[in-house]
Amino acid sequence: MRAVVLDHETDWDGWREATRALVLAGVPPDAIHWNVAGEAEDLYAERAPLPDAKGSFNVLRALVQLAQLAIQARDPERFALLYRLVWRAHQGERHLLEQAADPEVARANRLALSVRRDSHKMRAFLRFRAVDDPEGARYVGWFEPEHYVLEANALFFAERFGSLCWSVLTPYRSAHWNGSALSLGPGAQPSQVPDDDALEGYWRSYYASVFNPARLNPRAMASEMPRKYWRNLPEAAAIPDLIRSATGRVEAMLEQELRPPDQMPLGPVRARSSETGPQAPETRLGQAAQKASHCRACHLWERATQTVFGEGPADAQIMLIGEQPGDQEDLIGRPFVGPAGRLMDRALEEAGIDRRSVYVTNAVKHFKFEPRGKRRIHQKPEGPEILACKQWLDVERTEVRPLLMVLMGATAARAVIGRAVTIGRERGRRIALGAESALVTVHPSYLLRLPDEASKAREYRAFVADLTRAREIASELAAAK
Ligand code: URA
Repeated sequence: MRAVVLDHETDWDGWREATRALVLAGVPPDAIHWNVAGEAEDLYAERAPLPDAKGSFNVLRALVQLAQLAIQARDPERFALLYRLVWRAHQGERHLLEQAADPEVARANRLALSVRRDSHKMRAFLRFRAVDDPEGARYVGWFEPEHYVLEANALFFAERFGSLCWSVLTPYRSAHWNGSALSLGPGAQPSQVPDDDALEGYWRSYYASVFNPARLNPRAMASEMPRKYWRNLPEAAAIPDLIRSATGRVEAMLEQELRPPDQMPLGPVRARSSETGPQAPETRLGQAAQKASHCRACHLWERATQTVFGEGPADAQIMLIGEQPGDQEDLIGRPFVGPAGRLMDRALEEAGIDRRSVYVTNAVKHFKFEPRGKRRIHQKPEGPEILACKQWLDVERTEVRPLLMVLMGATAARAVIGRAVTIGRERGRRIALGAESALVTVHPSYLLRLPDEASKAREYRAFVADLTRAREIASELAAAK
C-alpha cells in the first residue's frame, strides 16, 4: 500500500500531481491510501516519492470540474473516490460521467452538489463586521461551512470586495485580503469575531428594513435563512422581535407611506463628525439614514439589498454626488466602494483632495438593476425615481451645507440643477444655485466604459482637472466666507 499525504484539506495541486503520476504509473486505486498532513496515517502504507510521470494524460474537462468541486467536500473518502473516477476514465471508460446511476459517479455528483450549496450559503449568509485594526478599517466575517469551501470563495470575495481589507474566519482555516493580496491562515474561534460593533447595528436595521411584515411567513423565513445560520447573523437577534411586532409595523408602514416626506420628523441634534462610514445614529444625518433605510417612496427598494446613504464629515466643504449605488455598494452599504469608487479615489488623490474630508453620496440611494442570470445589470434611474429620492439628498444638502457640490454625471446634475445638463458644455466651472454652488463633471463609470486606452487616459486627466478645479473653487469660497 502506498501513502499519499496532501498538504491540506483542499490541496488540489497536490492531489492532481499525485493522481497524474500514479495513474500513469499504473497504480490501481486500491493500492493507495490518501491522507492529509497532520492526520493519523495508515501504519501499513508506505510513503514513497511519486513515480516519474511519463506518457499522455488527458482528463475530460467535465471530470476536472467535478473533481474541483467534490474535493472541497468534507468526506475523507473523496480523494480516493475521485482517483477511482480518473483511473476508470483513463482505462477507457470515456463516457463515464454520462452514467449518472453509476454508484461512484452518483456519489461524486452528490458531493459536488452539496459543496455548491454550501458555497452559495457562504456567499449569501456571511456578514462582515467592522473591527479596529492598527492598519485601518478591516471587515471580519465568521462562517461555519459544512465543507471546505473557504478557499474557493475567498477568490469570489476578493473580486467582489476588492477595495476593502477583510478576513473571513472559519473553524478550519481563515482567509485574509489586504486590498491587493490574498493569504490563508489557520482556523479561528467564534470569539475572535467581535459581536458588539457598529456594523452589527447596521445589519440589524438592514434586516429590519427588508423584513416585510405584510408578508410574514415564519416557515418561508426559515427556509430563506436556514436556522442553523442564524447565529452567524447579527440580524437574527431581531427576528423574534420582528415577528412579535409585525402587526403594529404593518400599520406604521401604511402610515409612513401616507405621510408626506417633509413631515418626517428629524431629531434636533446637528453633530459634526470627521469619520467616514455610517453616520452616528444620534446625529440628524444618522437619523435620516435610519429613516431612509425604510424608504418605500419608489419601487427600487424591492430588489435592492439595502439603502446606501451618503457618508463623510457632516461639515465637509465638498459634497461629491454620483448616480446610484452599484453592485458592490448595494452589498456593502457604502457609496463608491466598487470599481468606479476606486477610480474616483485615485483621481481625488491626484487632485489633492482627501476622500475622508469630503461627503460622498448619490442622487438615488437604491441600486437599480436587471437580473440577468447570476449577474445584476445596472439600469439608469428615471425621473420619478430621482424625484422620489430627492428628499434624502435634500436632507444631506441641508445638514452638510457644502461650499461646493461636485455633480458626477447626468443623473446627479439633473437631481440638483433640476434640468438636463450637457456635461461637455458645462463641466469644470462654478455654477451658482442660489446660496449653493455646484460643478459638473463626468461620472467615473464613464471612464471605465471607454473602449480604448488613449481616450481613457485623456478623459481621466480631464476628470482630475475638474476635481482640482473643484478644490480651488471650494478654497476660494471658504476664503470669501
Ligand atoms: N456609481 C455611483 O454613482 N455611485 C456609487 O456609489 C457607485 C457607483
